Formats: sequence, structure tokens, C-alpha cells
Amino acid sequence: MNRTESNRTRWTTLLMTLAFALSLGALALNQSATAQEEDETPMVKHMTGINDGYKLLRRAARSGDLGEETLAAVLKMQKHTLEAKALTPPIAAKLSGDAKEKMLNGYRMVMAKLLGELANLEVAIRKADAEAAKKSVSNLALIKKEGHDAFIEDE
Ligand code: HEM
Repeated sequence: MNRTESNRTRWTTLLMTLAFALSLGALALNQSATAQEEDETPMVKHMTGINDGYKLLRRAARSGDLGEETLAAVLKMQKHTLEAKALTPPIAAKLSGDAKEKMLNGYRMVMAKLLGELANLEVAIRKADAEAAKKSVSNLALIKKEGHDAFIEDE
């Protein structure tokens, strides 16, 4: 083997080792992401879904973008909200009897408020009313705070 060939073989071996190491890394990352998704409770899954849309909406409110993507985000948030409303937050799961019913009623009331604001936002977008859409997005922040203050347990 001449010198050029030996160099080429060395490079090929190096690149193959690198490719193998990278694919092992990608596999490990993928597995840990899947494990994390499996660990997620339905409540966390829906809240994460609501949050993804909320981030997009805050950007859209700043830029005044009321396009298709913004409307699609609102519709997805409505679905997540409706499903999350039917669930029992961990704080209520620990209670029983009247105390539990009272807590669940309060939780569903605030989730219904969120759903109502998302419906207002849908109307504003369909009307291309940027001012009303902006107002709705700032109302979402208040409803989020109200829900989290009352229904997320202190660590
Ligand atoms: C725009 C509105 C909202 C956004 C963007 C939002 C976002 C989030 C996020 C990011 C989490 C943390 C998820 C995680 O653990 O990774 C969360 C958790 C939670 N949120 Fe919201 N939220 C909103 C409204 C509400 C409302 C209105 C309520 C109650 C009526 C609520 C109740 C909860 C509860 C109970 C948890 C804890 C879930 C658990 O640990 O099982 N959220 N939310």
C-alpha cells in the first residue's frame, strides 16, 4: 500500500468510527425523549400543548400576524383546553368528597374561562381584528396566572 492509499484508509476508518459514534448518540437521545414523553401525564401533555400555542400567540400579538398559522394554533389550544378541563389536577386528586368536588368545580370554571377567551381570540382572528386579538392574548396571561395560582401545588 502506498502512502496515499494508507492515508485514505486511515481517513475512511476515522469517518466510519465517527459516523458510528454519532448514530449511537442519536439513538440514545431519541430513546430518552421517548421515555420522557411516556412519563408525561395527560394533564402535562395538554398543558404543554397549550403552552406551545401560547408562545406562538405572544409572538403573533407582537407582530400583528393573524394568518393561518396563528388560527391553527388557537384551534389546537381549544382542543387541549377542552381535554384538560375534563381531567383532575393533582391538587384535587388528593382530596375527597365535597372538598374534591369544590376544587374540581373551581378548576373547571377557570378552564372554561380559558376556553371562552380562546373562542374570543378565534373570532378576532377570523375578523382580522388585530387590536381585539392582542387584548385576548393579554387576557390569556391573566387566566393562566389565575389557574396556576389556585391549582398548582407549592413545591
Ligand atoms: C394560556 C394558558 C396556560 C398555559 C400557557 C399553561 C402552561 C402550563 C405549563 C407550561 C405547565 C407545566 C407543564 C409541565 O409540568 O411541564 C402547566 C402546568 C399546569 N397548569 Fe397550566 N397553563 C395555562 C393555563 C392553565 C389554567 C387556566 C389552569 C387551571 C385552571 C392550569 C392548570 C395547570 C396545572 C394544574 C398544572 C400542573 C399539571 C401537573 O403537574 O400535573 N393551567 N401549565
